Amino acid sequence: MKTVDLRSDTVTKPTAAMRAAMAMAEVGDDVFGDDPTVNLLQERIASLLGKEAALFVPSGTQGNLVGIMSHCGRGDEYLVGQMAHTYRWEGGGAAALGSVQPQPLEHEADGSLSLARIEGAIKPDDSHFARTRLLCLENTIGGKALPLEYLEAATALARRHDLSTHLDGARLFNAAVRLGVPAAAIAAPFDSVSVCFSKGLGAPVGSALVGSRRFIRSAHRWRKMVGGGMRQAGILAAAALHALDHHVDRLAEDHANAARLAEGLAGLPGLTVEPPQTNIVFADLQGDRAAGLMEHLKSRGVLATGLYRLRFVTHLDVDAEGVDRAVAAVREHLLA
Ligand SMILES: Cc1ncc(COP(=O)(O)O)c(C=O)c1O
Repeated sequence: MKTVDLRSDTVTKPTAAMRAAMAMAEVGDDVFGDDPTVNLLQERIASLLGKEAALFVPSGTQGNLVGIMSHCGRGDEYLVGQMAHTYRWEGGGAAALGSVQPQPLEHEADGSLSLARIEGAIKPDDSHFARTRLLCLENTIGGKALPLEYLEAATALARRHDLSTHLDGARLFNAAVRLGVPAAAIAAPFDSVSVCFSKGLGAPVGSALVGSRRFIRSAHRWRKMVGGGMRQAGILAAAALHALDHHVDRLAEDHANAARLAEGLAGLPGLTVEPPQTNIVFADLQGDRAAGLMEHLKSRGVLATGLYRLRFVTHLDVDAEGVDRAVAAVREHLLA
């Protein structure tokens, strides 16, 4: 029985066509700037996102870290959501390695940070305070797509206060498909953006950071310092290029499968399902129903995460039949 793995969209395995593209990739030593496939990917993603330059990095975490370190110096601060990856899920790297203080803010129900909250958190120029330098947003955030009008308003506010802006766009292409806009429109109001090829796009490794040429020069230095200088990385860049060619438009299938999953789970006793916007379904489960659910799902070849707040993520390696199997397994447990 094939496992239906809904733990994350990072679990995808490279397809045969992607592996073939990787095997055929022309490579060189990227630390010397000699890898033609890395150079091609960097040009391609910079142009797709409407920025001057790009840097290929091993992970989204490293893209965000070198991004923050390029915007901020020691004793500076970035404004960020409580649940944002760049605050909560990156090991405190910006503080530990960059000497940059995070100022976390509560989210609104739609995942945004309210303009009033952002403005209220910007510190006056006073030696008691860290210097507020950067606003960091995430799109999608918890599977929700932040609309363009919000992104424009939040970044305009940041600019009025001389803050730089960074977008963690690990799932930016999911947001673009959901909003029905070009990826560049989401990236446009930000000074820098990180995107991941290893999530919904299905590549095994790799992310990119984009921004101005000057910004990317600085990020390149930090990338070297944190150990992100890679050699014949064209093998990995080829997977990312293949993903951009073949796996962007199909994200709509993942969104449809997430909607199918949510519909299948709706109305089950003790379960409150949030209608998904993209490829992530959250469902809250009443305490007494939670015991044994994950074990039961596992016994039926279905993997998910959470205990009282369940999370199911659809992706390239899950089809409608897999979704139906997952729904059947949850129903079996909750209706028993
Ligand atoms: C929103 C978001 N940003 C950044 C990352 C970090 O990516 P990586 O796991 O490649 O470091 C993740 C990983 O799941 C993520 O979900």
